[in-house]
Amino acid sequence: MPIPAALAKFLIKTGIARLHPGVRRLMGDGLTFLKYYSSRILEAPNEELRRTQAVMERPEGLIDLSLGAPPMLAPLQNTTLVWSDEGYPSLRGHGALRQRLAQKWEIENGLSVDPDHEVLVCNGASQALGLFLDTFLDPGDKIALFDPGYFMYRLASQYRRLRMANIPIRCEAGLGRFSERDLKSALKGSRGLLINSPGNPTGAVIPPSELERIAYWCARYDVLIFSDEVYEHFNYQGHQTSIARFPDARNRTISAFSWSKTYGLAGLRVGAVCGNRWLLQPMSVAYLASAPFVSALAQQTALLAMEVPRACLQERRLDFQQRRDAIHRLLNQYGIRHELPGGAFFFWIELPESKRPAHRFAYELRQHSALLTMPGESLSRNGSRYLRISFAGSWPECEMGIGRLIEALTSQTRHQSSSRPRAA
Ligand SMILES: Cc1ncc(COP(=O)(O)O)c(C=O)c1O
Repeated sequence: MPIPAALAKFLIKTGIARLHPGVRRLMGDGLTFLKYYSSRILEAPNEELRRTQAVMERPEGLIDLSLGAPPMLAPLQNTTLVWSDEGYPSLRGHGALRQRLAQKWEIENGLSVDPDHEVLVCNGASQALGLFLDTFLDPGDKIALFDPGYFMYRLASQYRRLRMANIPIRCEAGLGRFSERDLKSALKGSRGLLINSPGNPTGAVIPPSELERIAYWCARYDVLIFSDEVYEHFNYQGHQTSIARFPDARNRTISAFSWSKTYGLAGLRVGAVCGNRWLLQPMSVAYLASAPFVSALAQQTALLAMEVPRACLQERRLDFQQRRDAIHRLLNQYGIRHELPGGAFFFWIELPESKRPAHRFAYELRQHSALLTMPGESLSRNGSRYLRISFAGSWPECEMGIGRLIEALTSQTRHQSSSRPRAA
């Protein structure tokens, strides 16, 4: 729990903050700089972020099962661009790219979108989330979100001082399940809902009937929806259903797409949203006022990527589905508790009591098994019981990493932090 900014500022001003061991740990020799930090930064979940950042650092020689970034699709590896700078790109995105996106949403998602007014290209789905929150919510407003969920939702909401209302969700045989009571109580009085199907970190796919129910309650409580569909091409339950297809959601949903997952181009930093023009127009104001424009070079690469044959995307999905099934069998064989993910490329593993809390176990895995994983604390309020692993990386490394994880999970001993790390 962050402390209120006013109290933090008082503690900093009086010098008391410097005496706090947690503050000293976070700030190291930067304690004198604390007085410059804004309230938003002081109230951010800094301790959690420090842990997440530690996980995101990828020293050589470690096997990385922590990050959800698949490699670039094979046909894109030899792509060369002939490019000349034409000045600032269009704010909403390059015209040809918006046209192509509108086509994609029509064909793949059944959404009819006007490329001139209902599409906005931005720096990844992450930026789209920030724009949604900045455009439609003020500090103190209530936002509904599923738990567990993508860590950025919590961070971005807390940073904007929103009140978060959690809807517990679990994955059962690939499908997302939650109670109507929790949904209604979170939506009541909320201005926005963040929804992500297939979902990070559980891989839960929310079935169409449930999406329709969510749309209904959002309309009843007049809540806007941010539908994060970055894993749409990794849906093993069947065809992706976009919530915006339901009449109750159509004019209250911003649907987000990203090149990071579909094409394995996370470094490109391109994403896009579609939605009603009267929702997108103010979003482009927030965009202009914050970090406008996507590099023209990146947009041209994004357009080229969309020419990859659909068969290529299907092939990757099939490959990932086979990986998922193989890991599922292996984890079952060793009695490791988990649910079969219906989409995305993660396993949300329930840790035995002796291996909790997750952040400590993840640290031990890093030190003694040369393995990076994502501790659940950054992804859920009950996250200390869970560990997320990703199977998006190279398959031989995944297999080796999962072998190390199983070894650590099934061993009776618990390493002491001071013992010597094992070689990678
Ligand atoms: C649910 C979800 N949304 C968005 C993103 C980030 O998307 P982008 O790279 O387009 O910012 C991630 C990345 O892990 C994610 O898991």
